[in-house]
Amino acid sequence: MKEKLESIKKEFDAEIEVVKNLNEAENLRVKFLGKKGLITLVMPMLRDVPNDQKREMGMLVNEVKNHIQTCLDEKVKQLNEQEIENQINNAEKIDITLPVETGVGSLHPRTIIQKEVEDVFISMGFVVDTGNEVETEFNNFDAVNVPATHPARDTQDTFWLTNGEVLKTHTSAAQNRILRKYGTNAKVIFPGRCFRNEAIDAGHENTFFQIEGVIVNENVSVANLIYFMKEMLSKVFKKEVEVRLRPGFFPFTEPSFEMDVKCPFCGGSGCSTCGGSGWIELCPCGMIHPNVLKMAGIDPEKYSGCAFGLGFDRLVMIKSGLNDIRALNSGNLKILKPFKLNI
Ligand code: DAH
Repeated sequence: MKEKLESIKKEFDAEIEVVKNLNEAENLRVKFLGKKGLITLVMPMLRDVPNDQKREMGMLVNEVKNHIQTCLDEKVKQLNEQEIENQINNAEKIDITLPVETGVGSLHPRTIIQKEVEDVFISMGFVVDTGNEVETEFNNFDAVNVPATHPARDTQDTFWLTNGEVLKTHTSAAQNRILRKYGTNAKVIFPGRCFRNEAIDAGHENTFFQIEGVIVNENVSVANLIYFMKEMLSKVFKKEVEVRLRPGFFPFTEPSFEMDVKCPFCGGSGCSTCGGSGWIELCPCGMIHPNVLKMAGIDPEKYSGCAFGLGFDRLVMIKSGLNDIRALNSGNLKILKPFKLNI
């Protein structure tokens, strides 16, 4: 058995010398250490070794086996290093003198349209402000008249943080701060990213954008609301649009409305953009609820206000012809690159 082991070792030492790649190293491993390898096959011979030599022979088997394993490991390590060296030196050399095709980038469709909408509001005397993405429970709900027991807290499936704060579910969460900051002659819009625990499909995203606006002064009325919304939408759609108000419900406005715009593509006769109805629902709005004014330190007896929450992603989709809201957050250039404004 001793001679057998020595001849295996000799054979291995000769063969490992000429191994040139990882494949050959693996073949060698199988030949010597594999299930039917030479070392494995020599094991049963231990049974026939006289008892007083068993220990010595067992140690010898292990020694040869370890020798083979160590040499193979070393070889594999060497080959891997060689491979990396080769890649660096030859195949994957980067020629930094070659011209690089960079292409010209562009702003995201959302950014382009947001700027456009902001400019329209600015031209009508509005200030552009912003809100936080992480909000207190108070600002997101209580300050806009949605008390703990209000069913609206259920419908707005919310991402709650472990510290009790929330990812804001609507831009209305900034109303209290904005009203406190600008007081009794507020005329402010505050665009922002909102988050809801939604099941995602072509029409729903867990992360979406709204543009909220508030106007507060003495004698603010629904007429102001209609005027500014109609002006803004006409400028954004680049033609005189017709709007209509339907009754709606929001805890923070009284009365509340849904404002629709007559489809600027078909003029109201019905098309794929307006789903055949001739109208596009775009802008929930209303007169700010007295409780909301009070909570921001404004006397509702003396002052009134109106508010709106433009579904901004919907507007972006209409203007860009994108029919899947998920594309807006995807960063998928194949979809976003060919984007051009419909209007
Ligand atoms: N916060 C509402 C929502 O996310 C939208 C909204 C409705 C905002 C009416 C308003 C408003 O300011 O007056 O569904």
